[in-house]
Amino acid sequence: MKRMRVAICGAGLAAILVAASAFLAGARANSDEQSAEDGVYRNAAAMIHEGRQIFRYDTFGDQAFWGGKLKLHEAVAGAKLGGIGPGVSPIVALAVGLKVDVDALPESLRGRLAQGKVDLNDPATTLALLKLNAVVGLTGFFDSTGRIESIGIQCALCHSTVDNAFARGIGHRLDAWANRDLNVGAIVAMAPDLSVVAELLGVDQATVRRVLKSWGPGKFDAELLLDGKAFRPDGKSAAALIPPAFGLAGVNLGTWTGFGSTTYWNALVSNLEMHGQGTFFDSRLDDAPQYPIAVKAGSFEVRKEPDLITSKLAALHFYQLAIPAPKSPQLDDPGIVAAAERGKVVFEGKAQCARCHVPPLFTEPGYNMHTPEEIGIDDFQANRSPTKMYRTSPLKGLFTHEKGGFYHDGRFRTLQEVVDHYDALFDSDLSSEEKSDLIAYLETL
Ligand code: HEC
Ligand code: HEC
Repeated sequence: MKRMRVAICGAGLAAILVAASAFLAGARANSDEQSAEDGVYRNAAAMIHEGRQIFRYDTFGDQAFWGGKLKLHEAVAGAKLGGIGPGVSPIVALAVGLKVDVDALPESLRGRLAQGKVDLNDPATTLALLKLNAVVGLTGFFDSTGRIESIGIQCALCHSTVDNAFARGIGHRLDAWANRDLNVGAIVAMAPDLSVVAELLGVDQATVRRVLKSWGPGKFDAELLLDGKAFRPDGKSAAALIPPAFGLAGVNLGTWTGFGSTTYWNALVSNLEMHGQGTFFDSRLDDAPQYPIAVKAGSFEVRKEPDLITSKLAALHFYQLAIPAPKSPQLDDPGIVAAAERGKVVFEGKAQCARCHVPPLFTEPGYNMHTPEEIGIDDFQANRSPTKMYRTSPLKGLFTHEKGGFYHDGRFRTLQEVVDHYDALFDSDLSSEEKSDLIAYLETL
């Protein structure tokens, strides 16, 4: 009897094992690529992990510039802590748009913060946050006595924000969102020594500071150190809005003026803008009439040893392409969704938007570039690019960067202004209902 039960159990177990292995085999057949044994998926996961670390935390050695040359860390610390000036308190840091990563804060600190027991007017608190690696996009370097000795910046400085889950400016990271609160110019202008920039531009430090302070929140001038143009002919700042860095898979050229692919731009930014240490080549910048500063600095061919950038470009690129555009919260509003459905018809039909913003990429498959005349604006920013054109902006996740306005310089303050511009340019004769439906659609992308 007992032996029989064992035999039956054995048979049962065998049946289960057969069924389980058949199930596993089926699962593997259905999604064989997803198997942990599949080298491609394993590679993808590793690249995403590595790329995220680089995007969030890698300075590419640029502390030699921000700390070593500009001495920005001294302004952050303030005179009382071995630096100069009043120092940067958390209140000041948040006011210039810096963000705090709540996940980097220990539980005890979060508790004290919530109870208002942390002195947010003391630069020492900012240094403590830097030690915790909690200031998004900035890394402090400290000596063995705990004194700050340098500071570096990351991609996340401009291309990340937080969800304000804990308090305004303090929350969970939102990688690749444009930080439209960040006043890059005001932050850089705090640096005690801007002589390298002044020398390169052939002006005095006071002029450099005036230019930096003209940028305003959400903007940065990536072409300044190439062409030396700080102001537009109409006297306005030449700085451009920080664009989002998500939703770029499938998009050919990047930046407002289509300088190159995403990985091209990543290499340019890490070498020439962040002043990391690596290799960069672009013979188009070896053009003195268009890029006098780039020629003077030799920016068209940079070879710094050891190269701390090139080995990171693949994972960085891969990670960025993996970041989807976030889902608009407007999609939870049935009224807006209904209007957006009508707006989609306008977008693809009468308003002619989809001619350039081809769904679902919302830019052209192919050479996604247009002359200034085609979009009805001036050629100033286009002419600062080797392309002399504007790139069709991929429109996904528009709701994340309404602050600061639209188009490269924020010239249209609202989507209403954007739509009115196109309506006049294309003579579309849209009714006010069609316009508001179109705007509802844009807000749900
Ligand atoms: C100081 C702020 C700042 C930092 C730091 C920065 N960027 Fe940017 N980024 C910008 C601005 C401004 C532009 C728009 C440039 C233009 O069109 O002139 C831009 C454009 C881009 C684009 C093009 C997006 C599109 O719509 O095609 C990508 C991709 C990008 N940056 C990635 C990065 C990466 C990766 C890093 C780190 C290696 C980085 N950026 C560091 C400000 C910054
Ligand atoms: C001829 C091609 C073309 C057509 C047609 C077109 N766009 Fe654009 N769009 C562009 C280009 C190029 C830009 C980038 C402008 C810049 O860099 O300043 C842009 C930018 C935008 C932006 C700003 C994105 C941002 O991040 O600030 C919005 C919004 C927009 N377009 C919506 C529309 C709508 C709505 C329509 C239809 C009414 C439309 N576009 C028709 C080419 C086009």
